[in-house]
Amino acid sequence: MPDPCDVVVLISGSGSNLQALIDSQAPDNPARIRAVISNRADAYGLQRAAAAGIATQVLDHKAFSGREAFDAALTEAIDGYRPQLVVLAGFMRILTAGFVRHYRGRLLNIHPSLLPRHKGLDTHRRALEGGDPEHGCSVHFVTEELDGGPVAVQAVVPVHAGDDVTSLSQRVHAAEHRIYPLAVRWFAEGRLRLTDGGAMLDGQRLPDTGFLIRP
Ligand code: GRF
Repeated sequence: MPDPCDVVVLISGSGSNLQALIDSQAPDNPARIRAVISNRADAYGLQRAAAAGIATQVLDHKAFSGREAFDAALTEAIDGYRPQLVVLAGFMRILTAGFVRHYRGRLLNIHPSLLPRHKGLDTHRRALEGGDPEHGCSVHFVTEELDGGPVAVQAVVPVHAGDDVTSLSQRVHAAEHRIYPLAVRWFAEGRLRLTDGGAMLDGQRLPDTGFLIRP
């Protein structure tokens, strides 16, 4: 059993991915969520964390003079928990380059599309309007390029005739809840790493899609 891997999760909203990570905690899983930090006091995910007995903290970005000041305070809050891994789970803030560099190789994000398709917001509508036969979600290492870091795991979901944004986003969300705990666990076990050559799993360079899961 590898050493425990302390994780800090950043959220802004519902926290259903946080819930999936909480539910994946188990004696044989070295990932341990030490704290959940939200930039919004009303984020429902804070209640999920509290119900699981996990420390919570709110850092309201509106209370800071700008991005640099907020990210500096956020870094200080995170580093107080000395995490090996920082997980963005619906954290709706653009992070400064300095923040991203500070956590290089230990900062993961989940994005609701098959990256590099549909970077940014409103991915489900764009997948539908683009007539994409498939859609999905990606867990990736965060780099200075927005939604552009090396992909660790990707799950493909089919797009059905008659899908709307609600039905498609629900299917993607269900896939998110499978792949985020998987990627976090692999990282915690020392199997998933970021190197200068890209994302590696068990010493092998992953393809650009990351570890690909099909329905
Ligand atoms: C997810 O769709 C995730 O892909 C995106 O933000 C959303 C967070 O949802 N980054 P939740 O708060 O985990 O329910």
